[in-house]
Amino acid sequence: MLDKIIDGKSISSGIKSEIKSETEILKSGKGIVPGLAFILAGENPASVVYVRNKGKACEELGFYSVTERLPENASEESIIGLIKDFNQNSRIHGILVQLPLPGHINEQKIIETIDYTKDVDGFHPVNAGRMMTGEKCFIPCTPYGIVELLKRSNVKTEGKNVVVIGRSNIVGKPVANLLMRKEFNSTVTVCHSKTVNIKQHISGADIVIAAIGKAGFVKRDFIKEGSVIIDVGINRTENPGSKSGYKLTGDVDFEDCYEKCRLITPVPGGVGPMTIAMLMKNTLDSAKGVIYG
Ligand SMILES: NC(=O)c1ccc[n+]([C@@H]2O[C@H](COP(=O)([O-])OP(=O)(O)OC[C@H]3O[C@@H](n4cnc5c(N)ncnc54)[C@H](OP(=O)(O)O)[C@@H]3O)[C@@H](O)[C@H]2O)c1
Repeated sequence: MLDKIIDGKSISSGIKSEIKSETEILKSGKGIVPGLAFILAGENPASVVYVRNKGKACEELGFYSVTERLPENASEESIIGLIKDFNQNSRIHGILVQLPLPGHINEQKIIETIDYTKDVDGFHPVNAGRMMTGEKCFIPCTPYGIVELLKRSNVKTEGKNVVVIGRSNIVGKPVANLLMRKEFNSTVTVCHSKTVNIKQHISGADIVIAAIGKAGFVKRDFIKEGSVIIDVGINRTENPGSKSGYKLTGDVDFEDCYEKCRLITPVPGGVGPMTIAMLMKNTLDSAKGVIYG
């Protein structure tokens, strides 16, 4: 039952090997070591795991990395102070503030404090705007990972109907924008919680990208025979038999859709590892100066 799976783990490993080789060349040729700074405020368990995994990827690829951990009640000023220091630090080429931040912090203000030339998450308005107009910029890591998965799995996008479910600034909107580019030439429909007759939209899609945060939302009867399904969702569902008491599932009912689709990403092991690989790619590109010279 594995022939239809788009293996994000293996594709991301390939990308990381390419990054590792390029990092070695950059180090030996120019003495530059890509550097990534993480800021984590609070104890959100998923955020703690994400930052740990991103730190591990830095180690694996030979990057310099530093993590600043702050308590849940950290002040906005303390986070802004750290960002300003990293903005000035020449060893740091990328700054990542792990979201979500505690409720009393203004996330947008934090994002806008990051020097856009080090905004490897691609959330700063300068990068978001440049992406919209197709200029060089940091592309948000999850959408970047999704288009790389499609490319490296030889999924044709030109002329295809793509339905993106979800319109967040970090996944839905940017992935829809990317796939509209001339490079991909898809016809994109974006659905959200107020979309009427969502099933009808999804049933016309050659490619479905689900990014809503609702476990098992997309069922067999929603999708078209032979479609390609990209599942971005990461949901914790109860799993009493396991050590942690939960398991991770996507926004797509994998077992239900498997027979009917042509290709599908699993959760975990699909989009997730690609997000980390593209963060590393953005940081390497920042260190090389190929985005903002
Ligand atoms: N794999 C990765 O690396 C990765 C990265 C980022 C996020 N994720 C996961 O992807 C999922 C989405 O993340 P996000 O940050 O984009 O979420 P988000 O900011 O919460 O946005 C969710 C979107 O889904 C829409 N939505 C919610 N319920 C819906 C429904 N019943 N029908 C149609 N649309 C619905 C919402 O519509 P409205 O706008 O109308 O509210 C919203 O646009 C989450 O599970 C998250 O954990 C994974």
